[in-house]
Amino acid sequence: MATRTETRDSNRSERKRNRNGGERSAFDFSSGGNTGPLLGALAAGAVIGVGANWARKFLMQKSASLAAGNEWDEILKLEHKATLATFDVLLATDDSETGKRATLVKKLGYALEKHAHQEEKVVYPALRQANETVDADHLEHEHGYVKTFLYELDNMPKDSPQFLVRVREFRNLIAQHAQMEEEQVYPRFKGEISEEQNKKITALMNKEGMKML
Ligand SMILES: [Fe+2]
Ligand SMILES: [Fe+2]
Repeated sequence: MATRTETRDSNRSERKRNRNGGERSAFDFSSGGNTGPLLGALAAGAVIGVGANWARKFLMQKSASLAAGNEWDEILKLEHKATLATFDVLLATDDSETGKRATLVKKLGYALEKHAHQEEKVVYPALRQANETVDADHLEHEHGYVKTFLYELDNMPKDSPQFLVRVREFRNLIAQHAQMEEEQVYPRFKGEISEEQNKKITALMNKEGMKML
């Protein structure tokens, strides 16, 4: 664990680097190799509880981003895959497993809210800026139905004979929505933007994602 003095020194040198022109801050998600800012964040977190929570979230989002090669669309693809896997676990439950069903519905809710937040705050606005408004509006409209399914499953008796029927419909919606993003909209958009814009979208999306952890 860092001492108070080490932390002060670390913070001071971080400020100095920032003053001396343009080195990355601890909040920079844009590339993977530099662990200095992350260690600085973790050292600060060891001293202050809030900082620890911030550092934990930073680390979680950073690891997910690295696993996807720091590419916004690959991060979203991995999230689609993980969500569909959770649906499959839920579909394999039976009517007696009400506690497990309730837990899995909550897990889906957290994952889908984070995912939608990243897309709605960064990716869809960027699509609209690039004149992809029709697709952005269509996708955001479908997110409304995602919330409706979540509301319904959350409030439905978990041993209802209709439960798995609705889960299956919900999974189909997510699968076709994800397919449209992955196979049509995102590859086309990515082909139109510069590497700089691409990196910016990844960095902004990671910042928004972190808020939802
Ligand atoms: Fe989406
Ligand atoms: Fe998505």
